[in-house]
Amino acid sequence: MKKLFGAFFVKIIVTAVYNVYFHPLAAFPGPKTAAATPIPFVCRLINGRLVHWTTSLHASYGEVVRISPDELSFIEPCAWQDIYASRPQLPRAEVGKLESGVGEKAMVTADNENHARQRRIVSHAFSDRALREQEYLLIKYTDLLISRLHDQLESQEEHPQEVNICKWLQFVTFDIIGDLCFGESFHSLENMEHHEWVSMILKGVKFGTRLTAFHYFPPASTIMQRCVPSSMMAKAEHHYDMTRQKVDLRINQKSQRPDFMKYILENNDKKGMSIEEIYSTVSLLVLAGSETSASTCTAAIWFSLKKPSVMEKLKEEIRRAFTGLEDITVASASGLPYLHAVLQESLRMHTNEPVALPREVNRPGMRICGRIIPEGVSTVQIHQVQTY
Ligand code: HEM
Repeated sequence: MKKLFGAFFVKIIVTAVYNVYFHPLAAFPGPKTAAATPIPFVCRLINGRLVHWTTSLHASYGEVVRISPDELSFIEPCAWQDIYASRPQLPRAEVGKLESGVGEKAMVTADNENHARQRRIVSHAFSDRALREQEYLLIKYTDLLISRLHDQLESQEEHPQEVNICKWLQFVTFDIIGDLCFGESFHSLENMEHHEWVSMILKGVKFGTRLTAFHYFPPASTIMQRCVPSSMMAKAEHHYDMTRQKVDLRINQKSQRPDFMKYILENNDKKGMSIEEIYSTVSLLVLAGSETSASTCTAAIWFSLKKPSVMEKLKEEIRRAFTGLEDITVASASGLPYLHAVLQESLRMHTNEPVALPREVNRPGMRICGRIIPEGVSTVQIHQVQTY
């Protein structure tokens, strides 16, 4: 046993020395501890400080930083094109994929080929025609939100001017996306709490991030996957069962209401998605469309409240454009330049993604902003917040 530990210890030291001095990325700047082992990176990934840590590294080391033995972070403008828009596309890195534990891989975890196949079907749900047809649902739930906020403000005696807007925006976005995906709302606005399905998926994201961290230590990853407590796996299975039931119910309705499912089913030809892929895709859509939109709107409200001059200008533009709630539609709201600018600026200043979107360098001679990046050992990424 002693010998085994000794060998293990020697292996760690040798690997760390190799990583710092002989690895193909050895010439890139960054802290030696991060070059030696993924531990500093993984600690920040788990404690939610990754964005802040990487920002401080760019301030100290410049435009390219080695943030882990095999990973580089970039902040130069040219890196956007080279990393995310080069052809053929660089594949999503395994280490950056959020593990779900159950179900088929949906777009953000699938490989390039399966991603393209799934995306071809799902994109029909986001065409101009589909968006126009879905507008009545957006209006229905937004009106409900406004009326629930009025009720809240009137019924509160102690703090009549206070509501937790972040929570209410989550309720409305989950209700909208739930209705678009399952043909039925989660009823969060009516019940003033998250549906069990939503609470479970929000907790699952945190747990998934921890599982993802083990990708950085391959043997530990295999052990961890096997050691996930059976109670956790049972919860994940229960959640997946709920998804199956909801999707099956919507499919069996054979309804022509213009929600996401109508377009997915209508266009799901022989080369399309299996039913298991549809279950996973729907779970992805609910999460991708709700929490992101809610936190962006929360950020827009927060930034506007911090700058009273911005809030005044926004109120003036909106009140000049509309005389009543019924005038507000997707088309009329899209024509408000100041509102548009506030949303764009909020997307720029507020980070929705707590991690960057890593891509693997899978071909020789790949250049990012003129630098040759070694193939096979390099994962490259940009975090939007660090680029300005
Ligand atoms: C402000 C709101 C939103 C933000 C900030 C946001 C952010 C993002 C980001 C950063 C990705 C890339 C993920 C990756 O490459 O791994 C992504 C992908 C995606 N988002 Fe959003 N999103 C928002 C709203 C929505 C909405 C409303 C929907 C749908 C209802 C949606 C559906 C998707 C889908 C399906 C993907 C995967 C696309 C693909 O892989 O081809 N998102 N989103």
